[in-house]
Amino acid sequence: MAHELSTKSTLMDASLAGPLGVVVLKEGREKTLKLGHPWIFSKGIERFSGVNGQLVEVFSYKREHLGIGYVNTKSNIRLRMLGFLETQRENLLERLIKNSIKKRENLQINSNALRLVNGENDGLCGLIVDLYDRTAVVQFGTLGMELLKDEVVQALKNSLDIKAIYEKSTSISRKEEGLLPQKGWLTEEKSEQPIEIFEHDVRFLVDVVHGQKTGFFLDQREMRFYLRSYVKDKKVLNLCAYSGGFSLHALKAKALKVVSVDISGEACRQMQENTDLNGLENHEIIESDVFSFLQNTTEMFDVVIVDPPAFIKSKKDTSKGVRAYRELNRMALRRVQPGGVLMTSSCSYNLEESLFDTILLEASLMEKREVKLVQRHLMAPDHLKNIAFREGEYLKTVVLLC
Ligand SMILES: C[S@@+](CC[C@H](N)C(=O)[O-])C[C@H]1O[C@@H](n2cnc3c(N)ncnc32)[C@H](O)[C@@H]1O
Repeated sequence: MAHELSTKSTLMDASLAGPLGVVVLKEGREKTLKLGHPWIFSKGIERFSGVNGQLVEVFSYKREHLGIGYVNTKSNIRLRMLGFLETQRENLLERLIKNSIKKRENLQINSNALRLVNGENDGLCGLIVDLYDRTAVVQFGTLGMELLKDEVVQALKNSLDIKAIYEKSTSISRKEEGLLPQKGWLTEEKSEQPIEIFEHDVRFLVDVVHGQKTGFFLDQREMRFYLRSYVKDKKVLNLCAYSGGFSLHALKAKALKVVSVDISGEACRQMQENTDLNGLENHEIIESDVFSFLQNTTEMFDVVIVDPPAFIKSKKDTSKGVRAYRELNRMALRRVQPGGVLMTSSCSYNLEESLFDTILLEASLMEKREVKLVQRHLMAPDHLKNIAFREGEYLKTVVLLC
């Protein structure tokens, strides 16, 4: 029976062969693709013929054409799709990129810095594109997307009025894909650093080459806007402040005083420059580890923001990371005046929302503080979310009335 099936499959595959490689899925494995989830794991593949990383046409076991994707035989995520049930190869990347950009136009984001392509969520698996005024910063996270680099660059040039494209492919996922980190300009023209951007009425200088992430934490933009409603005449503490995103919005919204803490000297220098650029005062910038800062201060604040780096980088770090989140939030809670606000985030992909809630509950019980949840938030809206793809969720923010 098995032999019959495989002979039949080979004959049918020959008729499927076009200029692209071919993937045939195991029986029933097309269901998740049809729901919009773009990945197939190694166990879901019946047959693959083609070149590793290059484009393939994807067929169900019953030979229904499901779309186009690419395979990496080194990765457990064996197949990633491009687009949603897209079967036309011609101009595929340009069509998908233009579509992503168009979707953002309707969001009316009050900034010239935004995410234009959000990887799997936009049907462009392995590709991130962030725009800073007229400079695009791109990240290629997979072998398949790496091989499409020239096409992506051309598609971006055709779709946007941009001056330069900078590649910052430094994500850890590249290692799993058998790729080394890669950085550099992909256009002849380079943008002078830093680049000035605006968010609402606040100006920021962003160094896309030397800064963290693609230069700025775009994913927290709407939380920075939201914070403004809480801070008038209030004392604000911003823990893990980077280049002062939350701090500057708070000062613009007439906070009495902001204290910002970050371990990075470079981030603190950038924060001071951004403060000066906006002509803002009453900003105390402290270069320190947040844990030691919190151990040594007794000052109380009306609003405290906690936005640390990912403490749980992989599943094996979970218990250590949970302890770090609990401890940091406990220490932060001690600094919140009764009736004040704690805005706390986790950008650990491996920390589920419900576990984050539990951590916050434990921290509040340990501190004997009764807290109420006022708001929840995921990523900023330009980080469009494919609901079928839970793996795309990493950032979560909770606002607590303390
Ligand atoms: C997620 S970013 C914060 C982004 C910021 N909220 C914004 O809106 O731009 C995390 C920041 O934490 C800083 N950081 C990392 N470990 C730290 C530590 N132990 N103490 C203080 N800051 C730390 C990093 O330098 C980085 O700037």
